[in-house]
Amino acid sequence: MKLSAEQETKIQSLIREMTLDEKIAQLNQASVSIVGGFDVPFSELIEMMTDGRLSQDEFHKIMATSEKDYHEEEIKQGLVGSIMVQDPETSNRLQKIAIEESRLGIPLIIGLDVIHGYKTVVPIALAEAGSFDRDLMRRTAQMAAKESRADGIHWHFAPMLDISRDARWGRVSEGGGEDPYLLSQFAKAKIEGLQNDQSSHLNYVAACLKHYVGYGACEGGRDYNTVSMSESLLRNVYLPPFRAAIDAGATTVMAAFNDLNGVPCTVNREMLTDKLREEFGFDGFVVSDANAIRECVAHGIASDEAEAGAKALYAGLDMDMGTEIYLKTLKGSLASGTISLETVDQAVERILRVKMWLGLFDHPYVELPESDELSEDNKALALEAAEKSIVLLKNKDDLLPLPIDTKISIIGELANKASEVSGAWAISFREKDGVSLVEGITKEFPNSRYFEVGGLETPINEAILQEALAYGDVIILVAGELVSMSGEATSRADISLPGEQSKLFAALENLDKPTVAILMNGRPMAIEKEVGQVDAVIEAWHLGIQMGHAVARTLSGANNPSARLTVSFPRVSGQCPVYYNHPNTGRPAGRSKFTSKYMDIEPGALYDFGYGLSYSRFAFGNVVLKETAESIQIILDVSNISDRDGEEVVQLYVTDKVGSLVRPVKELKGFEKVTVASKEKVAVELRVDKKDLGFWNNQGQYCLEDGDFIFTVTDGNENSESFELNLSF
Ligand code: BGC
Repeated sequence: MKLSAEQETKIQSLIREMTLDEKIAQLNQASVSIVGGFDVPFSELIEMMTDGRLSQDEFHKIMATSEKDYHEEEIKQGLVGSIMVQDPETSNRLQKIAIEESRLGIPLIIGLDVIHGYKTVVPIALAEAGSFDRDLMRRTAQMAAKESRADGIHWHFAPMLDISRDARWGRVSEGGGEDPYLLSQFAKAKIEGLQNDQSSHLNYVAACLKHYVGYGACEGGRDYNTVSMSESLLRNVYLPPFRAAIDAGATTVMAAFNDLNGVPCTVNREMLTDKLREEFGFDGFVVSDANAIRECVAHGIASDEAEAGAKALYAGLDMDMGTEIYLKTLKGSLASGTISLETVDQAVERILRVKMWLGLFDHPYVELPESDELSEDNKALALEAAEKSIVLLKNKDDLLPLPIDTKISIIGELANKASEVSGAWAISFREKDGVSLVEGITKEFPNSRYFEVGGLETPINEAILQEALAYGDVIILVAGELVSMSGEATSRADISLPGEQSKLFAALENLDKPTVAILMNGRPMAIEKEVGQVDAVIEAWHLGIQMGHAVARTLSGANNPSARLTVSFPRVSGQCPVYYNHPNTGRPAGRSKFTSKYMDIEPGALYDFGYGLSYSRFAFGNVVLKETAESIQIILDVSNISDRDGEEVVQLYVTDKVGSLVRPVKELKGFEKVTVASKEKVAVELRVDKKDLGFWNNQGQYCLEDGDFIFTVTDGNENSESFELNLSF
């Protein structure tokens, strides 16, 4: 974070002027209470919406009509450093109090969960990362930054960089999947999009990397559960996305709820100071997760709130989200000598530096927007992102795409709910902006009809089902999970299809008509049986406001699907966690009973990370490996041998055959996405630096070990070629 000498001087003079109360206040993010029938904190209201107790519409009604206690009096007294707000008027009003009525006029930093788009909601991260399109990831982040900054929001609690290997964990939906390389590329693109365009203060926000760290490894996929892992696993898998984002200039980090090897991340000095700041060079500030300082008492790592607060601050946690424990206890901890003034000053300085970097001292207010309609450019980008995030999983006998005049029956309750396109954590989504699948498909295919067959929240209506099966020449079943089944606090022990949706698949199995399943879900699901019962399967995830159009255009061929899976699909729930880059075992799954597998299912994932089909057919040619002093390059031609233009994702995997620690069976080390016109070919070059062929050991050392490596270039589908090479470093 670069500030001018003048800005640095201003910060130092402010710190000299601040009273202790004013300093501690900077470390406090006030939680907003909603009063008037809803006397609950803002964070709980969001939770109620996320877990389905409140619909998105009800949530917005409450937000619009309730009186909210924004701690105006405390802001006036200079006792609040940050707050969560999501409308420009409130942002301006509170900022005005902070600037004009508080003694030192220090602006508030206003944060919000802008996870996958602000009002223009784009695909959930799990889907968008599957586009393998760095530029797209950057552009959607930039759009969210501008759209929210115009509403007075300066700080996104995003990107979420938790590697998630266990589909039972509901928060799988919020991150970019199971692979550290892909997630690192995603992280870099997101930071660039959120933070880099500083040509105007209205173009950027502060990113917040979360949840630092290991949250996705919660035992059994149960949210908030304990996490244990070796130093090498932490460094090889869970830390790289954070490091990539820090290298790209990320300005804030959120500490995770979980304990890591016995120490809650909230009070984990080794993670928050030794690694984050001293080793990785992070120079921004760290915020707790919501209420997490208080939870240290429940964790049993602190006997009371004062101890929890002192431990957190000492560990390197600069801002308290929501508990006011810093506000209430730090003075006492200073008086008793548990913490030092220097530690308080350091935290204050870090927060003021981010405020300064954001331009808040010079530009605290925003102009009120003239209209609350989404811009056409933003809608177009949301459509592009949705289309590029769709994964074609199965397409028997090239059933898809379908001619525009096809007579289609659409069944499945999710198809007709505009509220379900948003995905979890889309708190600024307005249902009026969402395009349901029924809306999109009936527009694209004039002879299509939706039948209210039920099957998810309501029982199946047999008579209507029979009518639907009789009407269409093609039956489309939309199935999956409600939005409220993924995101925070939505771990599921059984990740098969909820409700009676499996019965709908069974009804299609022996039908004498082509059948297509469209999946709408926020996690990989255990659907092995069901995918065998239909002819084509589209994984559409939760694609945001343009979902209905994106899916419809994919069915018709106006969009040629090109995304890949960012997570492996288990065959059954009991197989979780299943992920492609697992360590070698001494007994790889084979025909013998005494190998590492389950007795009752086929070994391996149903669908692997990196898998996805296209309507085009591609062939690899002239694949050559070149070794230089610094790198390995693979050069190849990708030919489109079909009649349809398409996009191909070329992936490079490396297997380190022998190491001083057990190595993963393979690891993604590079990818390129290319557009190839029908009957054309495109040259592709993938490169991996030799220095990136090492790994971290349990002593925290990076090891580059000579030996045999296998380099495999593949499209995750039918094309694949490997080279074995002996390397000395
Ligand atoms: C979540 C965070 C989120 C925070 C603020 C917490 O419950 O874990 O991801 O940013 O709330 O809303």
